[in-house]
Amino acid sequence: TALKLGMIPADGIGKEVLPAAQRVLEALGSAIPKTTFVPLQAGWEEFNRNGKALPDETVRVLKEECDAAMFGSVSSPSHKVEGYSSPIVALRKHLDLYANVRPVSSVPIPGQPGPTCDMVIVRENTECLYIKKEEIKTNADGSKIALATRQITSHASSRIGKMAFEIALRRGQEREAARNSGKDVWWKGEPKVTIVHKSNVLSITDGLFRESVRAIREGTDKYNGVKMEEQLVDSMVYRMFREPEIFDVAVAPNLYGDIISDGAAALVGSLGLVPSINAGDDFVMGEPVHGSAPDIEGKNIANPIASIRSAALLLSSLGYTDSAAKINAAVDAVLVEGQYLTPDLGGKASTTDVTEAILKRL
Ligand code: NAI
Ligand code: MG
Repeated sequence: TALKLGMIPADGIGKEVLPAAQRVLEALGSAIPKTTFVPLQAGWEEFNRNGKALPDETVRVLKEECDAAMFGSVSSPSHKVEGYSSPIVALRKHLDLYANVRPVSSVPIPGQPGPTCDMVIVRENTECLYIKKEEIKTNADGSKIALATRQITSHASSRIGKMAFEIALRRGQEREAARNSGKDVWWKGEPKVTIVHKSNVLSITDGLFRESVRAIREGTDKYNGVKMEEQLVDSMVYRMFREPEIFDVAVAPNLYGDIISDGAAALVGSLGLVPSINAGDDFVMGEPVHGSAPDIEGKNIANPIASIRSAALLLSSLGYTDSAAKINAAVDAVLVEGQYLTPDLGGKASTTDVTEAILKRL
């Protein structure tokens, strides 16, 4: 078999870190099926060139020709621009990539007891405030009122809940297997899913999210071995910063998931380390958690690791777990060694230096 990957660098540092991920995938050679990379357009620059942030052709090629895709990052303006809408949000919708899976783990330091943070944030990817139903009205006195609709459905909440429990189950099995093969596994208890919400205030919307996720565990015996806890989103941030080691899998509505994952990225050293996949039932797209980082773009100093790890996650979700593990081991080796680190991690290395150090270890 062969693999066809849509490659969408989009804007800013996406154009620097996505090629790094491609080089790493290419270096795997025959360890993965013969891979063709299909360059595709999207983003703010594309909008300014051709009037569309997500060209129809990009969606068509992804749907009809590609097995999976990789995305860089997009520069969305902070003010309303007529006709512009974030292509990544649109892509998630077009391809029904309903889950954004974001593993966040601290760098393994040899001789240390274990990571201080090793969790997976499972973010709902299709609804919440991201349906972008906003309106603005002017009151009789001339003052303004802006309103946004927040949509939570039992359908979307159930399927993201199921995804979270499946991931927790798999992590539990992987830890068990590692333990049985004599490895020192740091997480001792059962796998755990933490439901993140704010249903003390938003009892209808977040209430439905919470109920739907809870019902997933309660509706079957399959997840009996997975603990279920809940955490209000504000105290989730607090506890994550105080004791990140207590979290295994966290599942959250779209906006909370977005916010807590950037927070978690700070815990492990940099946004430039945290990968993700956007996953649906038929398609998967790897994407670093970070944005287009205009403050560092074009300088060849962006950390390529988030993008490279996203490629590994993508491979893993396509079933090429050995190749994924190889990439992750090479990345860990470079991080532990500490000689080639980009400035976000306190080093002086360039994007290219880090990529080449990883390639060498592969
Ligand atoms: P950002 O994630 O681009 O940057 C936040 C901070 O982290 C910056 O100081 C940046 O230099 C640093 N950073 C991010 N990635 C890094 C990397 N790989 N290596 C080293 N440092 C890194 O978030 P910001 O600045 O809020 O947004 C910039 C643009 O990105 C906006 O237009 C926003 O809409 C867009 N964005 C796009 C996303 C996507 O494509 N999925 C996600 C988040 C933001
Ligand atoms: Mg974000």
